[in-house]
Amino acid sequence: SNDNVVQSIDIEEDSPISFEEIESAAKQAMSTPAFSYIASGAGGEETVRNNADAFKKYSITPRLLNDVSKLDTSVTIFGQTYPTPLLLAPVGVLKLADEQGDLAVARAAAKYKVPFIQSTVSSYSIEDVAQATSDSSKWFQLYWSTNEEISFNMVKRAEEAGYKAIVLTIDTITLGYREKDMRHRFSPLALGYGQGNFESDPVFLSTLEKVNSRTIVQGIIDNINYPALNWEHVKELKKRTSLPLVLKGILHPEDALLAIEYGVDGIIVSNHGGRQLDGVISSIDALPEIVKVVDSQIPVLFDSGIRRGIDALKVLALGADAVLVGRPYVYSLAAGGEKGVGQFLANFLQDLQTSMMLSGVKDVKELRQLKIARV
Ligand code: FNR
Repeated sequence: SNDNVVQSIDIEEDSPISFEEIESAAKQAMSTPAFSYIASGAGGEETVRNNADAFKKYSITPRLLNDVSKLDTSVTIFGQTYPTPLLLAPVGVLKLADEQGDLAVARAAAKYKVPFIQSTVSSYSIEDVAQATSDSSKWFQLYWSTNEEISFNMVKRAEEAGYKAIVLTIDTITLGYREKDMRHRFSPLALGYGQGNFESDPVFLSTLEKVNSRTIVQGIIDNINYPALNWEHVKELKKRTSLPLVLKGILHPEDALLAIEYGVDGIIVSNHGGRQLDGVISSIDALPEIVKVVDSQIPVLFDSGIRRGIDALKVLALGADAVLVGRPYVYSLAAGGEKGVGQFLANFLQDLQTSMMLSGVKDVKELRQLKIARV
């Protein structure tokens, strides 16, 4: 037996299996505005569609007769070894999907030793999540605050809670132009779903003239829009934290090279699941050139459009070191709570393992030798 291999688990009768089933179960379970907030993207949603369609252009040319009876799916990132190359992308306002929000997701992730990246605008605080899952790997995603002392304090809280990396999201200096949310007049922050890290933060609270639910919500909105963000902030953050620093939202090879120049420890190639700039290059199309220029100097992670284990395999074959998923686990949470997320992870990882075997690759670290045809 092999410790790295997730054994197939019993699938509960009627529980969704495919991404399409999970998505439709979530749609059933949620109000239209709430589901739409998760599913939709910016503008005319060209990027959302591109993210999905682009995967179809990349095809695997498998090798056979390779003895794949022993698989190794483990990866080492920033000195930590994880049993699989999968992480859960930072998603704010998870209470929208389930009352237990981040706690449910972090617990399910812990069971499979999949790192959970907690959002700045999470429904529960860093300390609550840390307490609920004390011995699992967690990373913290930062939206830079107008008042940088708030950012530095949140980073300090993540360090003290034992988080393993800081992910600075650089593609959200202002919120994307999201037509469906405008139509529904829908803001999960206004509903109070994104304040877990703010309502208990003394530095943030000290900036409010009067502390009540309205000023907390407005304070958060004012804080996380920060169009002035630039490379000097990256330099400063790097000085302020002993944790590895990852930039999320890189699409241009020159920005990948600048990240290395500024001492960043890793990058995430991402277009935010099509929620920020519409009409932008799909994440998978952006990946190969970035992998080439980075040339293994730092880990290259990837998200936007991964729906199945086989999608992860393609991205790893194109040279990413690990992958993140967003919507698939959020829908699973809405449809089935903590159990739903666990079921999704088991199925996803099983798909990845089966696909590795059938591609003739036994070690995830050797996936980049797999031949990928672009059509
Ligand atoms: C996100 N994403 C996101 N990213 C981030 O850095 N901080 C955040 O708070 C959020 N919040 C968020 C909410 C919702 C509802 C979604 C769907 C996404 C983006 C996320 O981390 C990731 O980049 C995308 O979800 C990846 O694309 P897929 O997997 O959803 O296609």
